[in-house]
Amino acid sequence: MKANVYNKGRAPNVGQLDELQKPAPQKNKAPARKASAAWLVPTLLILLSFIPLAAGVFRLIQLASGAEITPANARFFASPLPVVVHIVNASVFALLGAFQFVTRFRNRRPGWHRAAGRLLVACGLLVGLSGLWMTLFYPWPKGDGELLYAFRLLFGSGMVASIILGFAAIRRGDVIQHRAWMTRAYAIGLGAGTQALTLMVGELIAGPPSELSRALLMGASWVINLAIAEWVIRRQAVPRARTASAAVSHLQ
Ligand code: HEM
Repeated sequence: MKANVYNKGRAPNVGQLDELQKPAPQKNKAPARKASAAWLVPTLLILLSFIPLAAGVFRLIQLASGAEITPANARFFASPLPVVVHIVNASVFALLGAFQFVTRFRNRRPGWHRAAGRLLVACGLLVGLSGLWMTLFYPWPKGDGELLYAFRLLFGSGMVASIILGFAAIRRGDVIQHRAWMTRAYAIGLGAGTQALTLMVGELIAGPPSELSRALLMGASWVINLAIAEWVIRRQAVPRARTASAAVSHLQ
């Protein structure tokens, strides 16, 4: 067996002996475990977006079937285009976008990542822009107020800006910045999923939210998602920096 620096000091890799005292074939479970762990991330992301996506399907069915117009849905019937554009593109962005984060999929099928990425840039921009349009021009439903209005303008613009910066980064070949900005854009987009959770937990703990607590719970979900995104971005940057400095010191 060839020795290398990684198995120095380790016990020789002796397989289990079977009843005939022949070495039993070793099954390497590590790659299989790694592969299933890789799919955990998109699975969790899709689960997180499940509630807003289901709400979107419900709203589309309501609009298509001409359901009864009530004070709660009148704004969507009066101006259906932005909400339809928003829901359709948000569904593609949330579902397809989740797979862009699977490293092995990205490495094995770079063509797929590029093609899906172009579609996702268009969808993400339409989600953010239609969200901003609804914020600016839909009448406020009961429970919405100035703080939520400001949060939507801030994070909606942040999502649009992140997608543009992520796209510009990959056009100039800066993969690290591309990944960082697209991770931020996806985190802001998925604020809709986290909002369903924060509002649910808030209501369980303190009862129906006031205008202020609703805005704070919704704002908190964007902050939580962005904090997780920053942690992921930094965690990915550290091993790369270590590898680079190890390579430099090896050459010295
Ligand atoms: C992938 C991410 C997103 C998903 C899945 C999503 C989902 C939805 C859905 C299903 C609705 C319709 C709600 C209803 O029928 O009552 C909606 C409405 C809306 N969304 Fe999003 N959304 C996302 C991102 C965003 C972002 C980033 C903004 C930021 C501006 C935003 C702002 C809005 C606004 C203002 C409305 C109208 C709310 C109302 O008038 O009640 N959304 N969204």
